[in-house]
Amino acid sequence: MCERAGRSVTMKTIDRDRLDEELNDDVALVELTQVDYRSGEALDMATITEKVHAAGALMLWDFAHSAGAVPLDVTAADVDFAAGCGYKYLNGGPGAPAFLYVRKSWQGKLRNPLPGWLGHARPFDFELTYEPAEGMQAFVTSSPSIVALRPSTERLTCGSARRWGTFGPRAWPDRPFHTTCRRTTARRL
Ligand SMILES: Cc1ncc(COP(=O)(O)O)c(C=O)c1O
Repeated sequence: MCERAGRSVTMKTIDRDRLDEELNDDVALVELTQVDYRSGEALDMATITEKVHAAGALMLWDFAHSAGAVPLDVTAADVDFAAGCGYKYLNGGPGAPAFLYVRKSWQGKLRNPLPGWLGHARPFDFELTYEPAEGMQAFVTSSPSIVALRPSTERLTCGSARRWGTFGPRAWPDRPFHTTCRRTTARRL
């Protein structure tokens, strides 16, 4: 990252309550966990992303405790990047593939620091040189476990439709997050 930026890059960990004070021209990227697993607190993605953009920085959301548990709209919140794991509420279990969201305007500009065979433009040509695939395919690292992907696929299709029927976006603003989160978890178990 430093090499590409042509200058030194520092990673700073701050208390998230101090975000306003810490945002300045030097900040390139802010990373926050959207749901705090300790308290169930959910951060307001759209408001925080807007604030970060206004300071000239990009926003990366960690959805490890959000995906599969709460409704997420990265387009409405104007999110740049998001990442998360598939083994929690996406039900993939330990070893399940993680996931990444990259806003379309950044695809093709960012380089995958861990390029893998399936991220090659033509993986089955077995070429000796590496040419990244277009779009999100370039971010595939390693060969995903198909067995672990199966329950996640289920969770993202009929599972979500069923659950969001009860706890969906329409009900969302009326409920305190922790209530929704606990009930969702209880239903899941
Ligand atoms: C906030 C957060 N991000 C990401 C992860 C995923 O961590 P790992 O990639 O080590 O499984 C976790 C795991 O609990 C987490 O709590």
